[in-house]
Amino acid sequence: MKRLRVLVTAGPTREPIDPVRFITNHSTGSMGYAIARCAHRLGHQVTLISGPASLAEPAGVKTIRIETAQEMYAEVKKHFLAHDSLVMAAAVSDFRPRQYSAKKLKTNSRTAFIQLKKNPDILQWAGKQKTKKIIVGFCMETENMFARALEKMCLKQADIIIANKISKFAMPFGPGRTDILLIGPDSLVQQFRKISKDKVARILLDKIADLWYKKHSCRCKQR
Ligand code: C5P
Repeated sequence: MKRLRVLVTAGPTREPIDPVRFITNHSTGSMGYAIARCAHRLGHQVTLISGPASLAEPAGVKTIRIETAQEMYAEVKKHFLAHDSLVMAAAVSDFRPRQYSAKKLKTNSRTAFIQLKKNPDILQWAGKQKTKKIIVGFCMETENMFARALEKMCLKQADIIIANKISKFAMPFGPGRTDILLIGPDSLVQQFRKISKDKVARILLDKIADLWYKKHSCRCKQR
């Protein structure tokens, strides 16, 4: 098997409001770290770009720590070219406060407004430059999961999308088992129920390797 160079992002990002407060989400990094560990075990060369997470750095994996979406974007841009695949398992904050306040915001008014600004879409940027690289995105939805996943796949030019549904019965955050839809090229869909994140990682990495071979066999044109 070819030793691929796999770039993985994991965890949440933190978007600072003032020196005390920030915007973030429930991501723990479990999925991205499982992918990084599994890729290393399979003999691939792995770089992990991680938002704040309290997980042990995977042995043998070059781990780069970041806080904000903009920092993650800068690191992905720096490392993208030197990798064969990008797996965007991070829950990147779509917005950040428009202005950072160097002083702690006062709490003496009854309401407060924080204006938000869109963060760069890292996956979409990568999709535009990918040539023969294999790009993987994740998607978490409360409704219309399949339609939204397909839409994202197309918009962001991802080769594979893993979709998780979130509801009061299904919480995909953390180390537990999860229900996923894996959508591959030609919208081929596989459904997995109550599957561990280690298994998702293995299935995904096998798909990435398959796809890499397909794209690099001499008769295969660039997508
Ligand atoms: O936020 P959204 O649901 O569109 O995210 C889907 C995918 O896009 C995920 O793989 C996520 O890591 C990636 N993403 C990104 N940059 C953003 C937002 C999301 O790369 N600003």
